[in-house]
Amino acid sequence: MLHLMEANGFSLEKCRAVITGASSGLGAEFARQLAPRAEVLVLVARRAEALEGVKRELPERLKVLTCVSDLAKDSGIRNVFEFLEANGVKPNLLINNAGMGDYGSFMSSAEEKTRTQLDLNVTGLTMLTHGMLTRMDRPGGIINVSSLASTLPMPELAVYAASKAYVTSFSEALAVELAPRGITVSCVCPGPTPTNFSKTAKREDGGDTNREGQGLLRIPPQQVVGEALRALEEGRACVFPGLGVSIAGRLFRLVPRRFLRWMLKRRMAKE
Ligand SMILES: NC(=O)c1ccc[n+]([C@@H]2O[C@H](COP(=O)([O-])OP(=O)(O)OC[C@H]3O[C@@H](n4cnc5c(N)ncnc54)[C@H](OP(=O)(O)O)[C@@H]3O)[C@@H](O)[C@H]2O)c1
Repeated sequence: MLHLMEANGFSLEKCRAVITGASSGLGAEFARQLAPRAEVLVLVARRAEALEGVKRELPERLKVLTCVSDLAKDSGIRNVFEFLEANGVKPNLLINNAGMGDYGSFMSSAEEKTRTQLDLNVTGLTMLTHGMLTRMDRPGGIINVSSLASTLPMPELAVYAASKAYVTSFSEALAVELAPRGITVSCVCPGPTPTNFSKTAKREDGGDTNREGQGLLRIPPQQVVGEALRALEEGRACVFPGLGVSIAGRLFRLVPRRFLRWMLKRRMAKE
């Protein structure tokens, strides 16, 4: 019989995890849900105070370290590795969660925000993973936070959707490449989730990413993170959390691209 098991699951018991983008939203929720089972958590983001706020929520018995780094910069990536070395932490779990969007037309986008988006969502995630592979203990685990947006082109979120298409493709390739090397890789593709994401993606004079028709897809961060951690434990390479998102993810990948573009055009015209 065809054996479809993709990889050995990664056990979260006593894990030593590095969580990027841990100062809010899904990253903070990863920290909360891992806390009862982890041995060490390293929380990474730019805002020191927000990281300390998340740390204060976690049980005191747990070793929690906060590492202030800008992961859109090479120096920020290097800083994470130096921090781990200086604190004697050898992680066995990496959660690549930090990411951002920019909502509005590509033509009118600010050059700097577009570049930062690519530097963070694509380059930062890739280079952090690359450097971590030689530093991680085996068995190891990696969760990459992608998006439902990775399954379709998205006008008004064009760079973001393309960057997440990269994350999903990269993750699925690594899942196959790293399984025989004792590292389980799972990619999580959430739909619209109430976090600070839309606040960051919104332009000063722009619209909101929380658009009509998203109600059926929206699930709380707790459910997104719960399903992502379960996927890693079960060795599943890709998960679309929530019923609506898992149906939408399958549909978007099945419909012909020409039809998809026609639907997107109609939707844009309506808006
Ligand atoms: N919410 C959604 O609807 C949704 C849907 C699909 C996928 N996602 C993905 O989920 C992930 C988490 O986002 P979220 O929804 O939880 O949004 P969020 O609340 O805005 O969290 C984003 C996190 O990334 C960190 N971050 C941003 N820029 C950074 C940088 N240059 N260096 C280091 N850290 C940085 C932020 O911390 P600092 O500001 O302190 O640096 C924050 O902790 C992202 O990859 C996002 O694309 C979100």
